[in-house]
Amino acid sequence: MALIALGVSGGIGAYKAVEVARGLQKRGHDVAAVLTSNACRFVGPLTFEAITRRPVITDQFAPGLNADIEHIALASSAAVLVVAPATANVIGKFANGIADDFLSSLYLATRAPVLLAPSMNTNMLEHGAVQANLAVLATRGVRFVEPGEGFLACGWQGKGRLAEPDAIVDAVERLLQPDRSWQGRAIVVTAGPTYEDLDPVRFIGNRSSGRMGFAIAAEAARRGASVTLIAGPTSLEPPVVGDLVRVRTAADMHAAVMARSREADVVIMAAAVADYAPARREAHKVEKQQAPLTVTLERTPDILAELGAERAARGGALPLLVGFAAETRDLLERAKAKRARKRVDLIVANDVSQPGAGFEVDTNIVTIVGPDGEEAQPKQAKAEVARVLLDRIDRMLAGLTRQP
Ligand code: C5P
Repeated sequence: MALIALGVSGGIGAYKAVEVARGLQKRGHDVAAVLTSNACRFVGPLTFEAITRRPVITDQFAPGLNADIEHIALASSAAVLVVAPATANVIGKFANGIADDFLSSLYLATRAPVLLAPSMNTNMLEHGAVQANLAVLATRGVRFVEPGEGFLACGWQGKGRLAEPDAIVDAVERLLQPDRSWQGRAIVVTAGPTYEDLDPVRFIGNRSSGRMGFAIAAEAARRGASVTLIAGPTSLEPPVVGDLVRVRTAADMHAAVMARSREADVVIMAAAVADYAPARREAHKVEKQQAPLTVTLERTPDILAELGAERAARGGALPLLVGFAAETRDLLERAKAKRARKRVDLIVANDVSQPGAGFEVDTNIVTIVGPDGEEAQPKQAKAEVARVLLDRIDRMLAGLTRQP
């Protein structure tokens, strides 16, 4: 039994928060409801008071509140802060550290795990500002219960409907029972692009944002693993992990991975490593001229293939090696060929030409190719892809032991 702070913001889904409160109570938890002023327009504080049998917080500066449950007291006593529904406004305030009411102040003041159930109109949800705020919160460790698709109260059909109360209650329960099943495991994850410099101002890069690798690193850390995250240049905030190594080029990434993989139980190469780099980096900015410019590119080391060859030479089964295959055609054939050629255990294949998959988006559509066939996954959040992948790795590791 735990004290759960239930934040309710002003969306039409606010009435479903009553069911969330009841569901949490049925599982034996105590609920302190915090309503924003907009939430009070949709659902009455009295309803929550009657159900939770606790004073409902609707105002940061209410007399009496400061002596009893004020935001600092609730911040330190709540085991989880769950916000359902979380509107675009609340998400924006959390992401940017604005604390102009009780709920947003509580978010900043608490060290408890935070779970948001976003709910809003489809266009609002898809807006770059909201997506950027969600991405910032995800990298800070905030968890989400994905909104559902269907008819929205505003008359639209699409994504944005508040998740079902049962799903929200289940997600709170998972947060209360942290999974430490990867404790004692060392994992190396690469993420992001590499930049290969042509001269002091230009480089050859790619569109990888680092989101997929960051989601994997965050999930492994959540399960208690000791995580080394080797990240290429990206503007996204990386998750908090034991060891963060910043690199720029494929050569840097090669050195960083090779130095840290010997002791690892798992290496997951989610980075989009350049296959070619300029043969030379000019010391000064290259001047434009009338004649065409020819740049000679040289192959970079294939890090994953080198890890595979090294492991095969040792005859060991560890580290377990996982690669990604970003393709635009013949997805499965290419992924299978890559798995064999690089001598790795799993290849996570995705067709980056499909909407909602690959670079710069929060979702992915992957097929995991392993020794015993392939497992196609639906379109899902990258955090969910990370969970599915780590579960699969878990099953493989269960059958392996470290070679001397
Ligand atoms: O062969 P391809 O580049 O498509 O393989 C992709 C996989 O190999 C990814 O896991 C990527 O991180 C890894 N890779 C690598 N070194 C390279 C190129 C790709 O480790 N030079």
